[in-house]
Amino acid sequence: MSKQTFYVTTPIYYGTARPHLGSLYSTLLADVVNRWQKLQGSDTYFLTGTDEHGQKIMQAAKEAGKTPQEFVDSFIAAYKEVWNLYNIEYSQFIRTTDPYHIKGVQELIAKLMERGDIYKASYEGWYCTPCETYVTTQDKKAPPCSSCGRGTVAISEESYFFKLSVYADKLLAFYKENADFILPSERMNEVLSFVESGLKDLSISRTTISWGVPFPADSKHVVYVWVDALCNYITAIGYGDSDKKEMFEKWWPAQLHVLGKDIVRFHAVYWPALLMAADLALPKQLLVHGWIQVDKQKMSKSRGNVVDPIELAKLYEPEPVRYYLVRKMPVNSDGDFSTGDLEQTITSDLANDLGNLLNRMVSLATRNGLEQVSAGDEWHEAAATLQKAAKVAFDAYGEHMEKYEFHLALARLWKFINQTNAYFHEQEPWKLAKADQKLFGEVISATCHSLRMIGVLLLPIMPEKMNALLQSIGVALNEQDTLTSLQLTIWNQPFTLTKIPTLFQKLEDKGQNMEKQKKEESSVEEKTYATIDDVIKVELRVGTITQAEIIPESEKLLKFQVDFGELGTRQILAGVRKFYEPDQFVGKQGVFVFNLKPRKMVGMESQGMMLMAKDNEGKPIMVTVPSTVPNGTRLS
Ligand code: ME8
Ligand code: MG
Repeated sequence: MSKQTFYVTTPIYYGTARPHLGSLYSTLLADVVNRWQKLQGSDTYFLTGTDEHGQKIMQAAKEAGKTPQEFVDSFIAAYKEVWNLYNIEYSQFIRTTDPYHIKGVQELIAKLMERGDIYKASYEGWYCTPCETYVTTQDKKAPPCSSCGRGTVAISEESYFFKLSVYADKLLAFYKENADFILPSERMNEVLSFVESGLKDLSISRTTISWGVPFPADSKHVVYVWVDALCNYITAIGYGDSDKKEMFEKWWPAQLHVLGKDIVRFHAVYWPALLMAADLALPKQLLVHGWIQVDKQKMSKSRGNVVDPIELAKLYEPEPVRYYLVRKMPVNSDGDFSTGDLEQTITSDLANDLGNLLNRMVSLATRNGLEQVSAGDEWHEAAATLQKAAKVAFDAYGEHMEKYEFHLALARLWKFINQTNAYFHEQEPWKLAKADQKLFGEVISATCHSLRMIGVLLLPIMPEKMNALLQSIGVALNEQDTLTSLQLTIWNQPFTLTKIPTLFQKLEDKGQNMEKQKKEESSVEEKTYATIDDVIKVELRVGTITQAEIIPESEKLLKFQVDFGELGTRQILAGVRKFYEPDQFVGKQGVFVFNLKPRKMVGMESQGMMLMAKDNEGKPIMVTVPSTVPNGTRLS
């Protein structure tokens, strides 16, 4: 059986600056897709690179006192460094200044000329340099750019035009037949309305700049930078090179172009039209993602609010950052980046939920002399139930991944991780180790089987960390292994356990919180003692939980209504869902921080905090008062 091919691309980034978290995000999504496809057994090709021509680059180079080539050269190492640091497993890094690319672009232009789809005229109009876009208007005044809102400049020059207008109907027919061409599908609407309102021919050459691909047979002109850039997707795999015909045929059309929502029009309108004109197949799908924002503002070079991925990797390690970006920045909407959220996610999802499970299980087993875990044949009910849950999670995860709903895939898998945690906990294997060796072995084996599936499914997200996890339970993978061949939901594997260093650091332990650190630096001396004023500040009060509910959006939280007597009833959220049923709390009287600033979690307000102690196994135990006191009583 011949393997299915899968060709995935990222945008090629302007060679005007070092990569930032936004560029990493697109590249990471493509990497996750590529690794997921490999795991499915596909033969894959993953392209990324840089966009190095055009007016924007020329201007930036001039400001830096460099030639355009020197200027773009100075950033390439940084891109490769960041991609390597983050384990981005690209097959090729294309630069639009590469000679093979230039030749391929000229080949495409020549082809369009030959077909009569290009003519010469003069262009009078407006141009947005930051976006490298022509802006049309009826006004005599310079309009703002329709995409970024910045000012445009007048240009008037002789230009070659591509007969884009001719392709409007063909494009509309194509969208109609391929309703899932653009993902998420809501993005199709803006493209439809743009094309339905009629397409003007596209100016595809410039005479006033020289930093670009020379126009074939008219060297006064260079090719418009967007046409040049889009062609990278085909020139990289051999378009225009007669020696590479086979390679081109193998990989084209691409299965997926990953891009941000700023450049949808270029990919969904101009690019397909150019391909139609050149008689080439169209890419199968575009995956369009939203912005990483900081304080509700798009992270961008021009806003000066970019986060440096190298700094982030130093503080948090690259793979936890990969997890955070994929889990917390949903593909289909904008996402807010903050170091606080990043730290919380790493601590709770990675260190507590996953790392701790592995660590607890391996420590307990090896401490009790259990290193060789047998396959297990018959499972008691609890283990059999967990295995069923594994199957359900496996299928759901795959469905989300196939639809590029990475954040949902991870949320679903974390539900299973916590089912495994609950199973492990409820079985109390630390007691079984003494009382029932056989059952002890079964609990360890069932937990290993779960971790094997979890580790493999997370390989596309955190390849190194998951290889370490799998090693710890004695699972080694081969190049040929696929999700199917591994039979992850069939529980018949033996395991060999080895203790490994902590997989994920809890960030509170390391005191790495960047924001907290800054604040604390000024008041280090007084830190170890609380003053009486500090103690008085905290208002602890007794209350009775009258209602407890699950919150569907959260795997961790339960929602309580707490009666504080004359002080009224308050809604308080607590992270105990993994360990308890809501009913177990109703009627219990506990102790709450009453004057904690109300805060929102999963969109719901929590007006206080329940005090809890953790037992040996990390299970939270509610703090209660030994005999009933009136609700609302303050502790002092
Ligand atoms: O547009 N959040 O290059 P570019 C998420 N050279 N993604 C972001 C982002 C953010 N805050 N900021 C940037 C170009 N991106 C052209 C592309 S392709 C043939 C030519 C990502 O350096 C996102 O993918 O401005 C966006 O589309 C891309 O970087 C723009 O990169
Ligand atoms: Mg841009």
